[in-house]
Amino acid sequence: IVHSRSLTELEILSPGVLGVTAGGKVAFLESLSSDSDRDASTTKILQAHGSEKAHVRKLSPHTLLLPGLIDTHVHAPQYAFTGTGYTLPLLNWLEKYTFPQEKRFASTTHAETLYPKAVSRSLRCGTTTAAWYGTLHVPATKILAQTCARLGQRAFVGKVCMDRNGGDGYVEENAADSLQTTQEFLDSFEKIESDRVKPIITPRFAISCTPELLRGLGDMAEKNSLPIQTHCSENAAECAFVQELFPESKNYVDVYAQHNLLNPRTILAHCVHLSDAERKALRKSGAGVSHCPVSNFGLDSGACDVRALLDEQCKVGLGTDVAGGWSMSIVEAMRSAIIASRVVGFGKREVAKIQDGHTTAHKTLSLAEVFYLATLGGAELLNIQQSTGNFMRGKEFDALVVDLDASTIGQGGKEELGTRTVEVFDHDDAAAMLEKFVFVSDDRNIREVYVAGSKVI
Ligand code: GUN
Ligand code: FE
Repeated sequence: IVHSRSLTELEILSPGVLGVTAGGKVAFLESLSSDSDRDASTTKILQAHGSEKAHVRKLSPHTLLLPGLIDTHVHAPQYAFTGTGYTLPLLNWLEKYTFPQEKRFASTTHAETLYPKAVSRSLRCGTTTAAWYGTLHVPATKILAQTCARLGQRAFVGKVCMDRNGGDGYVEENAADSLQTTQEFLDSFEKIESDRVKPIITPRFAISCTPELLRGLGDMAEKNSLPIQTHCSENAAECAFVQELFPESKNYVDVYAQHNLLNPRTILAHCVHLSDAERKALRKSGAGVSHCPVSNFGLDSGACDVRALLDEQCKVGLGTDVAGGWSMSIVEAMRSAIIASRVVGFGKREVAKIQDGHTTAHKTLSLAEVFYLATLGGAELLNIQQSTGNFMRGKEFDALVVDLDASTIGQGGKEELGTRTVEVFDHDDAAAMLEKFVFVSDDRNIREVYVAGSKVI
């Protein structure tokens, strides 16, 4: 059993015992000493918790029990064209591929066909919580929220707001119209049958919203204490255009601050090109960042300096940003976060060499850190750390059963090599298993997925 207690504390219980209540909450979590009689020790632990009658399930030695993964930024309508169009930079990609695809969700039939596929794929990849973007359309985005509820995913779902720069007609009439449809969308949540699916205020980004719309959404979020999601500082051309559209703002982050959209309930996707001043303002506001490394590679946006964000004590989680990102998998985002961090390090070394012939030490994100970002960090970013993110007692049991005995990750056990017997891969080494999970596993290794104690995969 592996989970993060904080950014710097990865806890590995090898083996461990985890109790789940009938209501789907974590009742207890204890480690077993590996040399004693495991069955006897388990019985003792159950007795100590008054759970002698509990149904006990033993997982095989090549299995990891992990907290559910949290995707803090993903676009459901973009699932269909995932993996195509990576020759264009962000703004051209939006106009050529994204807006025409999103327009199609004016049809509820289209939404009913595609949204179950997107949400199922996300769950299949082990995402127990997702912050989804829908489209401009209320009926289709309601279908997305209902789909999450029906398939059992914990989710935030946003109707996208845009009242300018929507390319060929992908735009709402005006700010008032966008605010009114957003209110309609919020009201529709009374009929959603899951208390784990919630609305989120979603101005697409500063470029696609007039100041009037941004301000209106900021006030609406404040009035209803709602979370907010948007994009920020993803690509250089985008940043330049924002400065042009908002000459009165000090910088990109300040645009959101000036329109009442920057607070502890705000999730800013990307934040690749922030200045030190912007990181400071972000931290002070309590807003956080959804780091989307796969997308930043896919759209050639840049490598986000997550270390700088963490050093500043900004909240950070991971996002797939499908279809900017080519994968619905937060595991792919974890390994890409490590690679992105290395790339940041390469750049810093080059600069240091030019400046003074020295290399500066750059601390690449560690495995434990990216695991935190994918789980507890995401929960903290979405302000749901009371319910999920790790296996602390009282939280809801959002979990993955990961089987690492599949042929894809290297078989365990011993192998005859001529006259020698070599250890191919030691399944008793939980830390190595976690490394395997992050670097070589895929959805085939994810055998079961639970949300609040209910099996959803
Ligand atoms: N910025 C504004 N809209 C989008 C989008 O759909 N995807 C990405 N990656 N960036 C955006
Ligand atoms: Fe995005």
